[in-house]
Formats: sequence, C-alpha cells, structure tokens
Amino acid sequence: MTQPTERVFSGIQPTGDIHIGNYLGAIKKWVEISERYDSIFCIVDDHAITVDYNPAKLPRMVFEAALTGMACGLDPQKCTLFVQSHVPEHVELTWLFNTVTPLGSLFRMTQFKEKSRNALYKAIAKKEGEAQSSALYQIKSLGDATVKQLTALQPDLTALEPEGQPDEALIARINDGLGGLMQKLQVGLGVSEASAALFDYPVLQAADILLYKATLVPVGEDQEQHLELCREVAERFNRKFGDVFPQVHRIPGEAPRILGLDGKQKMSKSLDNHIGVLDEPKVIQKKLASAFTDPQRIRRSDPGRPEICNIFSLHRYFTTEGKREELEQGCRAGTIGCFDCKKELAGNIITAFEPIRNRADTFRQNPQLVIDALEAGRARSSEIASQTIGEVHQLLGLGRRALGQMQK
Ligand code: AMP
Ligand code: TRP
Repeated sequence: MTQPTERVFSGIQPTGDIHIGNYLGAIKKWVEISERYDSIFCIVDDHAITVDYNPAKLPRMVFEAALTGMACGLDPQKCTLFVQSHVPEHVELTWLFNTVTPLGSLFRMTQFKEKSRNALYKAIAKKEGEAQSSALYQIKSLGDATVKQLTALQPDLTALEPEGQPDEALIARINDGLGGLMQKLQVGLGVSEASAALFDYPVLQAADILLYKATLVPVGEDQEQHLELCREVAERFNRKFGDVFPQVHRIPGEAPRILGLDGKQKMSKSLDNHIGVLDEPKVIQKKLASAFTDPQRIRRSDPGRPEICNIFSLHRYFTTEGKREELEQGCRAGTIGCFDCKKELAGNIITAFEPIRNRADTFRQNPQLVIDALEAGRARSSEIASQTIGEVHQLLGLGRRALGQMQK
C-alpha cells in the first residue's frame, strides 16, 4: 500500500546532454510521479566531479541539466528541484555513512569497476610509443606476479582445516597473502586511475536519498545495485544507532535500458552514442542515419531481423502499434529498407520532443526562471537536510548540542 506521506528522490549527473535513455529510463517517470508524491529531484554535481571534468564548464552544465529537466516537464510548483552542492549536508552525511559502510560492498559495485576500467584504458591510450608499451608491460608483469603469488599460497590453503582448531599463524599468512594479492589487483590495475571519491560514489548516493528519508527512487535499471547498497547502509545505521532511515524501493521508468546508436552499449552521455532530448531535428536525422541496425541486412531486399535491431526497439517508444507492425512485416519481407525505417523513427522522435524543445527555448530566454527554481529548491531541501543531520548528530554523539548534554 502506498502512503501519501512517502517521498520520492532521484538525481541526474550534469555531465552532458540529457538523452532519450535518461528521459525514458527516468525523467518521464519523474514528471508523472511528482503529480502524486512529495518529489525531490537533484542535479548531482558532487557526483559529477568523481571523474575527470572541467571546473570552468561545470556551472553551465548544471544550468543546462536543470533547464532540460524543466523543459521535460519538471514543474517547480509541483516538485523540488535543486543542486546537490548547494546543500552541503549531502557531503556531511556521506562521511557519517562511511563509518557504517563495509569496504567489501563498495568493491562489488559494477559501476565503480566499469568507470575505473575506463579510466585505466584512457590513461593508457593517452600515452604513446614507448610510454604506452611500458604501461602495458607493467600490467603484464603485475599479472604474472599475481599468478605466481597465488600459486605460492596454495600449500597454506590446503593446510587450512575448516573443521579443526583455528591456527593463528596460518590464518595470518593466508590473510596477508590474499590481502597483498587483492591490493595488487586493486591498486595496480584500473583502481590506480580512480579516485577515492569514485569509490565512495554509492555512499554519497545513499546519503542523497536518506537525507530526505525518501522511500521511492525512480531510476533506470543500472542503478539497482546502488540502491541495494543504500538499503545496506540504512540497515546498518539503524541497527547500530536507532531506527532513523526507511527502506528504499526503485521505481522503474518506461524503459529499463535504452541502447545507444552503436546498438551495443547503454546509451550514455559520455559514449557519444546518444540522441539528446534537445537535439535539433537535423541532428536527430543525421545521428539516426548512421545508427547501427541488423548487420546481416546489406541490401534493401535482404530480409531483416527486427528482434535484434536497436532502431526497431526504439520504435516501441515513439511509433504507433499499427505502424510498427507494418514496419516489422516490411523489414522481414525485405520490402521496407533501414533508410525508411529510420526516417519514420526520426520523424516521430522529432515530433515527440518538439514541445520540450519549445519549452527549452522559453527558459533560455528567461534563464532567471531556472535560477529561481533552483534557489527555491535549495531552500526547501536545506530545511529537511538540516533536520536529518541534527537527528543523526544527536545519535552519534556529534555536534554542539551533544556537547551540551555531555554525561559525567
Ligand atoms: P545519469 O545519466 O547516469 O546521471 O542517469 C540519470 C538517470 O537516467 C538514471 O536514473 C539512470 O538510471 C537513467 N539512465 C541513464 N542511461 C540510461 C539508459 N541508457 N537507459 C535507461 N535509463 C538510463
Ligand atoms: N548515480 C545516479 C546515476 O548515475 C545519479 C544519482 C545520484 C542518483 N544520487 C542519486 C539517483 C540519488 C537516484 C537517487 O544515474
């Protein structure tokens, strides 16, 4: 049963154009849900600085993200829209949550692994000639050393008898051996290019949500693991200090995971495989023209396989059912070519986003509307945030008030 008192929280990073994956995976749902619940939406700039970025450009990107969100239909009369760094309690609660977050849980986060792997790859690709070879050589020798060390651990592992008395020296040797190994893997490879902040990213996300005691989080499927961590942090905190934080639930968007124009990876701001919700009609046509379809379809007369074609799957969100059936049959029969299929999709996307582009133009002419909305959002968020921090301080024995109530 949903209670009217439940609160919604979600965030988006100001890292580039808001695209149709963001829209269908999250923002469309945000607009819908803010009609029914107390809803707080955040431009998460503190998250955006966990990877390489340009400080001079960040404020513009924050503004653009807010403007696009409002153009998509986020109405400051119906929801709270604000910028994460304007409410410093997010960072403060992150630190406090760090004290109850197991390191092991953070190492399991796939987004961290992906992002640190990308950072490693970027660092290697940036190098040239000898420097590049030497970096690759380092990876190879590190791998070799690790395999050797693993082999050397084998006798100790064999000697460990789970049924017998624990042998302290043996356990210490295994622990140190495995620890050294893990450190090599983590410090030596992708992680060496990643910051502690990137590692801690999910804890900041948990703080975002729990600072407002939100229970409903509309996000794409890719965020499920981060929400699991959020639940773990809340549970551990509550067990140790008292029942403060609620359980959070993900609210799925219209599309769980939109693929990029490459037809392979998730549509993403950083992969240059996206269609922005504010892209001009010409840009949309051009991007779609070179988008990936069924690779086996070379000539128009070749029968196509809509079930593996990303263009066809995008039609699902923009094209009427009748037209979709027509396209599907024509594709299978080899009577409708990819060109026409893409043209139809481009036309429908352009029409679907026209009102959003128009609203964006209005806000661009009145940027103060965006700034004012963010200021109102900051004021409201701050009020809730400082209440929660007060409560948490009290339980943790921190802050001025706690000192005033000092025990003898
Ligand atoms: P981000 O761009 O990572 O800040 O994501 C903002 C929101 O969009 C999050 O709720 C994501 O889960 C969602 N999202 C991002 N990319 C996609 C995608 N390709 N498909 C569906 N949802 C997405
Ligand atoms: N990590 C989310 C993403 O990349 C953005 C985010 C930050 C978020 N804090 C949040 C989403 C809190 C929901 C709730 O999409």
